[in-house]
Amino acid sequence: MFKQIKLDDLNENWVKKIHYEWALIVTNDTDKINAMTANWLQMGWLWNKNIVTVYVRPERHTYTTMENNDVFSVAFFTSEHKKKLMYLGTASGKDEDKLSKCEYHTTVLDGAPVIEEADLVLTVKKLYQHMLKDENFLVDSKTIYPQQDFHLATLGEIIGVYVKTTE
Ligand SMILES: Cc1cc2nc3c(=O)[nH]c(=O)nc-3n(C[C@H](O)[C@H](O)[C@H](O)COP(=O)(O)O)c2cc1C
Repeated sequence: MFKQIKLDDLNENWVKKIHYEWALIVTNDTDKINAMTANWLQMGWLWNKNIVTVYVRPERHTYTTMENNDVFSVAFFTSEHKKKLMYLGTASGKDEDKLSKCEYHTTVLDGAPVIEEADLVLTVKKLYQHMLKDENFLVDSKTIYPQQDFHLATLGEIIGVYVKTTE
């Protein structure tokens, strides 16, 4: 069960949390819900909104499922889920039903698919996308992308913030 809170109520060190704890990007697929592990993402304040920016490579199944949906969720978990997050960050939803394998359950909040076992959930509405490009780098892009396999950046408005509750 989740309780809705305000983003301002959280005292997270987001950089540390994203870097070390990782997150899941959770999307609606045609016949299931899919999730991929991500730790290249940013939390911020832009356009007078709480914004999360996620970076997804075109070859990810999540890239396609995000294209097909206006909303998705970003989920954070307690440390005992790390092994599952590693699996969700290596297997692809193209090949298997990853959430069933993890024995995760899902629900819908603000129209977005949500994993019930998550500790903290952000529901997100897509606002803007841009593909990173070699010509826009101010340093040699090969030092960051040796294979030139650039990410698509998606900026989304955080429309809901939910924490797990036992009540
Ligand atoms: C710790 C960790 C962080 C990751 N961060 C990202 C990321 O920010 N962007 C990305 O495109 N892939 C990232 N990945 C790789 C995807 O999670 C991985 O390719 C996954 O299998 C894609 O699943 P999908 O095909 O079901 O979308 C990360 C993987 C791990 C283990």
